[in-house]
Amino acid sequence: MRSFIGRDILSLKDFSRDEFFRVFQVADDLRPFARDRRNTDLLKEKTLLTAFYQPSTRTRLSTEAAMHRLGGHVLGFSDSKMTRAGDFYQESIKDTFHMLEYYADVIAIRHHQQGAPHEAARWSSVPVINCGDGWGEHPTQVLTDLYTILLEKGTLDGLTFVLVGDMRMRTMHSMLYSLSQFDSRAIVVGPPQMSLQPEFKADLDLMSVDYREAGDVRDVIGEADVIYMEPVVQADYTQSRVERGAETGKTPPQYQVTRELIRDKGKRSSIVLHSLPRMDELTPDVDETRHQRYWAEAFNGVALRMALLSLVLGRAE
Ligand code: CP
Repeated sequence: MRSFIGRDILSLKDFSRDEFFRVFQVADDLRPFARDRRNTDLLKEKTLLTAFYQPSTRTRLSTEAAMHRLGGHVLGFSDSKMTRAGDFYQESIKDTFHMLEYYADVIAIRHHQQGAPHEAARWSSVPVINCGDGWGEHPTQVLTDLYTILLEKGTLDGLTFVLVGDMRMRTMHSMLYSLSQFDSRAIVVGPPQMSLQPEFKADLDLMSVDYREAGDVRDVIGEADVIYMEPVVQADYTQSRVERGAETGKTPPQYQVTRELIRDKGKRSSIVLHSLPRMDELTPDVDETRHQRYWAEAFNGVALRMALLSLVLGRAE
């Protein structure tokens, strides 16, 4: 297994099975601090910089919360319009990260351009963590999702995942790449205009990911151990910011999960994950069922990001 020390976390495409479990093991070790709302001093001499060029509630704040739990320092921006990258100068990723590397020991970036974190990592000598890049990938979210499934199911093998939503979405890409490392299969359900892109399908075939496409969640939910959701009424993730219009549209029933649907057609043991935020694809009545795990995901996201920060900063090996 490769060392995590000093490593950029840009994609789950190159994560080995052992590496997934190493991250989950460290998350288990650090989880008690988050659970008991305690801080430790593991990273007291380290600084995290969050460079978010796109809105975020969970990813930025849970990464910052993780650093605080570990006793580290945090600085950064959550509105690139107030930096030189977002004003008249449109400062490049290269110039920006050449400087940011001197301000911190690890950098977490979210960007609307696919590949921006990879470009940032070229110009930064400190580890760069991809917190979502355009339609590309969202590694820390999907590590959180897999960790949640492992805690709930005790395994990541032998499961059927039904992925529902916009298949251009970065979480869907990271999730499907990850499944190459587990003996589990996926059924993907999304509108034709939001289906998996050909180059992405080619990757999945090369990686021997076991998946098939379906047109309606109502036809396949009965097979699901894990129901993994994203909106289809969706912002354009290639934009730095999208305001909601007067008309947002409704999610068609083919891509919607409700309490009634799970009760009538789902497995009693199935769990529902959603990286959030949601629109109407996941109705609030599911919140009250034993199937929902998205609030557990939110908590696990702190422990998981504590693990990643500790690993890349060399305090967990
Ligand atoms: N799941 C997720 O990425 O949420 P945020 O956009 O709020 O960070």
